[in-house]
Amino acid sequence: MYVNYTGKFYRVLHPRPTLIVGTICEDGRVNFMPASWNTPVSEEPPTVAVVVDKESYTNECLRKNPQATLNIPSQDQLQLTYELGSVSGRDVDKVSKFKLEVIPSTLVKVPGLKGSIAIMECEVLNVFEVGEVSLYVFKVLNVKVVKDLVDEYSIDFTKTNILLHGAGRVFHLVNPKKLFAKKPT
Ligand SMILES: Cc1cc2nc3c(=O)[nH]c(=O)nc-3n(C[C@H](O)[C@H](O)[C@H](O)COP(=O)(O)O)c2cc1C
Repeated sequence: MYVNYTGKFYRVLHPRPTLIVGTICEDGRVNFMPASWNTPVSEEPPTVAVVVDKESYTNECLRKNPQATLNIPSQDQLQLTYELGSVSGRDVDKVSKFKLEVIPSTLVKVPGLKGSIAIMECEVLNVFEVGEVSLYVFKVLNVKVVKDLVDEYSIDFTKTNILLHGAGRVFHLVNPKKLFAKKPT
């Protein structure tokens, strides 16, 4: 039996994998913001779309310097990830407040966030304005991963885990058990 759901429509699309968007802002300051509304878009060119609130400092920074790193935080960065999304870089220098260590990028000016499972170096390809958000389509220029944590299929969940964002302070983990569908006959 189905019943009408009167909560927010997007709850049925959660939990969602969280990434952390790194940007460089007007004064050269590096800023990081978690975003769980994200998705790969195309393979040719390699692109990832991220929803960025128009009011966020990240949006302002991306307008000034259209480059980013998309950092995949691990389970160990639970508290940091939540707190990076609880303050704005407009009010506080998050790198010094959270004593963040950064990793220089190869192809973009924006550094990656140390401790991430993977770091994607990106430039803005397109921006679409939708309601209260800007949908950024990033072209992926380079991907770095922590050795042995990512195989040819996915992140190796027997070795690490990601942060699937439920709602508010709630996150979920990926069950490392693999389920295999039968080959179609
Ligand atoms: C786990 C998590 C996921 C979030 N996902 C998004 C998102 O997809 N898009 C967005 O605009 N804000 C998202 N937010 C909120 C921003 O991270 C938050 O507004 C942040 O303070 C903005 O930082 P900034 O002003 O320094 O850019 C999320 C917050 C958390 C904790």
